[in-house]
Amino acid sequence: MDLADIGVKMWDEKKIKRFRKALLDWYDKEKRDLPWRRTSDPYAIWVSEIMLQQTRVDTVIPYYERFLATFPTVKDLAEAPEEVLLKCWEGLGYYSRVRNMQKAAIQVMEEFGGVFPNTYEGILSLKGIGPYTAGAIASIAFGLPEPAVDGNLMRVISRLFEVNLDIGNPSNRWAFQEIAEILIDPERPGDFNQALMDLGSDIESPVNPRPEESPVKEFSAAYQNGTMHIYPIKKPKKKPTPMKWRAFIIQDDKGRFLVEKNTQADLLSGFWHFPLIRDFSTVGESIDLFEGVAEENSTYEINQNIPLEVQFESLYKMKLQPTRILPKTVKHIFSHQRWDIELQCATASGALEQHATRTLQWVTKEEMAQLPQSRVQGKMCELLASQELL
Ligand code: ADE
Repeated sequence: MDLADIGVKMWDEKKIKRFRKALLDWYDKEKRDLPWRRTSDPYAIWVSEIMLQQTRVDTVIPYYERFLATFPTVKDLAEAPEEVLLKCWEGLGYYSRVRNMQKAAIQVMEEFGGVFPNTYEGILSLKGIGPYTAGAIASIAFGLPEPAVDGNLMRVISRLFEVNLDIGNPSNRWAFQEIAEILIDPERPGDFNQALMDLGSDIESPVNPRPEESPVKEFSAAYQNGTMHIYPIKKPKKKPTPMKWRAFIIQDDKGRFLVEKNTQADLLSGFWHFPLIRDFSTVGESIDLFEGVAEENSTYEINQNIPLEVQFESLYKMKLQPTRILPKTVKHIFSHQRWDIELQCATASGALEQHATRTLQWVTKEEMAQLPQSRVQGKMCELLASQELL
């Protein structure tokens, strides 16, 4: 397949040069002053690109500054204790990003002698870095003519050429990559990529676009043909799977709370949280409620009829005196799952038994605040505080 097969007619060299100039002139005048645009340190640029993958620029800025103050070099990141690392990322979500960064930092120390790799392939070989991020770092930090193809860039290119491919389908990425490789300015690839990022996230953003303000509207086939509402082509994504949970807010006779460290490699790995048990009892209802999304889990058969308190007592080897279940639930969306958590308050007495597989401790409210907390745990604490239970 090449571009002609999908109906894209590439511009001639003169038009490509005019496009680069129009875009970069606009960028020079309008570019946002962002902290990672004041450095050429590949490590700092890498940190910014990872943070910006799923988080907005305004949110990222204070995190970026704090992260670099805490871990100023790749070596500092490679050697960081997990709890300090997670604390520094707290609130940004998608924690696999920071875990992978630490693995990549160790790779830089071990495989690249502590020096950040300066080729596209070298950068791409690092854990957690895909073609987009490798392109962004290669172009911004090292001036290499590598495009950085993400959803924003695909949206812009899709309109420039009326590309009839679903931008949500990864197997179509090649077309946008190929177009961007032709368009990219070899003299200023980093600025070129960042200009497209700014354009895609502001003037051509999916919400409130202002196409008439675009510095490249005369180049845009969709703008010229009145088809901006058709492009980019994007099929709706699958809805996140609904999951019900019960959190156990257990206090001992000193008023301390029971928390558990998740040691499994799942969404909450490494975090301390109130014990959570999956509630399969209303799967039948949720199938109706959530348009037939069925659960796949072998424990369903076993657990669905056993009351959750009873499951808790056997899993945690602890006798409970349940007090109340809060009328409000905590809702949280991970990329593919939609959690609805019911909060069960209870008291318990007696010392903690030894567990082979669980890491548990009693903590005061103040001690709890010092532990790495996921956003889900934060929301549960907020709900408890609003009921004066924390
Ligand atoms: N989004 C991702 N990378 C970015 C960058 N370097 N500048 C602005 N927004 C971005």
